[in-house]
Amino acid sequence: MPDLEVKKVTVRYKEKIAIKDASFEANSGEIVGFIGADGSGKSSLMHAIAGVKKFEGEILFKGHIYHNPKEAERIKQHIGLMPQGIGLVLYPLLTVKEHLDFFTAIRNLKKDDEYLQYRERLLKMVGLFEFQNRQAGHLSGGMQQKLSLICTLIHKPKLLILDEPTTGVDPVSRRELWQIIDEIRKKDNIIALISTGYMQEAERMDKILLFENGQIIAKGTAEELKELVKNYVYLETECKEECFSFAKRTYSLKPLNVPHADPELEAVFFINALKKYKNIPEINVEEREIKIEIPEVVMEAIGLTKRFNNFIANDHIDMVLKRGEILGLLGANGAGKTTFIKMLLGLHPIDEGQLILLGKKIESYKDRLELKSKIGYVSQKFALYKDMTIRENLIYFANMHQIPMSKALKKIDKLADGLGFKEYMDYLPTELPLGINQRFSVAVAILHEPVILFLDEPTSGVDAIARAQLWKLLHQLKQKWGISILITTHYMSEAEYCDRVVVLKQGKKIIDDTPQNLYQKFPDAKNFEDIFIKFHEEKN
Ligand SMILES: Nc1ncnc2c1ncn2[C@@H]1O[C@H](COP(=O)(O)OP(=O)(O)OP(=O)(O)O)[C@@H](O)[C@H]1O
Ligand SMILES: [Mg+2]
Repeated sequence: MPDLEVKKVTVRYKEKIAIKDASFEANSGEIVGFIGADGSGKSSLMHAIAGVKKFEGEILFKGHIYHNPKEAERIKQHIGLMPQGIGLVLYPLLTVKEHLDFFTAIRNLKKDDEYLQYRERLLKMVGLFEFQNRQAGHLSGGMQQKLSLICTLIHKPKLLILDEPTTGVDPVSRRELWQIIDEIRKKDNIIALISTGYMQEAERMDKILLFENGQIIAKGTAEELKELVKNYVYLETECKEECFSFAKRTYSLKPLNVPHADPELEAVFFINALKKYKNIPEINVEEREIKIEIPEVVMEAIGLTKRFNNFIANDHIDMVLKRGEILGLLGANGAGKTTFIKMLLGLHPIDEGQLILLGKKIESYKDRLELKSKIGYVSQKFALYKDMTIRENLIYFANMHQIPMSKALKKIDKLADGLGFKEYMDYLPTELPLGINQRFSVAVAILHEPVILFLDEPTSGVDAIARAQLWKLLHQLKQKWGISILITTHYMSEAEYCDRVVVLKQGKKIIDDTPQNLYQKFPDAKNFEDIFIKFHEEKN
């Protein structure tokens, strides 16, 4: 008998079915991947299995049977659930140390030597050992994510359920995180159910469940799933129907006259969408309504510095952003990316250095006020009104930017179509998956046709198709509006879609170059992730 058996589990939210008749089995020591588009039902199934959500069907775990959260109470001490979203289970005013103490207390753990060693290892693994006295609210997004993870791991659960644990986590830490998951599953013989948007991680799983529209539509290893789609993947070429091109590949249901390309697991998403909808809508940005003169350099930072007490988060950073340029701002968690963007926006006062935006030296609040309509911003943490529907939020922001109502409604419709959140317009943000919310934050940021766009991890937690669409949108904004974009991301493949990248490390700028030049400097690198990791290893 398998250690975990999920039998025909259905989860409903009011009249909507989130996941229907999901069944699968797993054995101790196994990692099961939950892969699928945003809103396809992964989190709902995870919540049912974790015993925190009402469901129909039956779940068996190590001889215990449960049909509802109440029956699941008996095995709760063996379950560890980390829900999706940055810092959701954290208390902003408690420090890192206090968090671990708190989770240790509610789990009734003995503080023996083994515990203390394990705790220290977890802290070191996620790079929080030196920051134990820092409040969670003062940690970077990725640091918060890692703190949530170790709070989930502290009681060594036998059934570990992690909903996108690596969203917003940098490549080096992601690698370390997988090492520990791999190790505890072997050593402690646990079952881990893990969802992820990083397809390279899916390759490390023993078995993958592929979710679509509330159903598990395929099961297998990454290799087996790729096998299913490999005949539809080609080198990039022109094509008209039932096809979609992105990142040097064309996915096509009809045979094409070019060689096949090796499929990546992402291909499964593109092919599934094509099979279902025949076409993936192409983004089409219209010209700016008002033509404007844009200076050649839109942002110049000279020696920008930010300190939090004795800690230097940004150390004399110089950076230039040119007209129509897409600049990728990369760096490990806590390197100072968000802090830098917040200084550019005036959300953090600048401690030292000079900032020039659109040719204007920024010296006072008034200087900024005049530039407000020229700047768009997507923050790393979701920052829109939670008690208004998506439609209401969008209308509200259009109003704020004084866009006439009829025009605003048309614009909103177009963006919703292109970015794929049309069907969610009348939901509250809190009712929607992270990836869907992220898309509509982007829509809000470009409603008023800004000249400069600051995007802080807009693609974190967003599925493969929506990420491809977002990048197509950014490139069109650049071409048609001459917009300049400063974007942060932990998807290293996205660095290649930028004109130039800047890498921060511990508050300092260590790289400022084009992706092409960096590939030349690291000829052995298979991809940009290799370059990032090499750079971080080399300089350590
Ligand atoms: N208000 C604050 N008080 C104290 N320290 C802070 C504060 N805000 C940020 N920091 C610290 O500054 C450093 C940089 O944080 P920042 O959020 O800029 O990192 P990041 O590069 O955006 O990381 P991530 O990739 O995780 O989002 C971190 O060590 C963080 O804990
Ligand atoms: Mg950040």
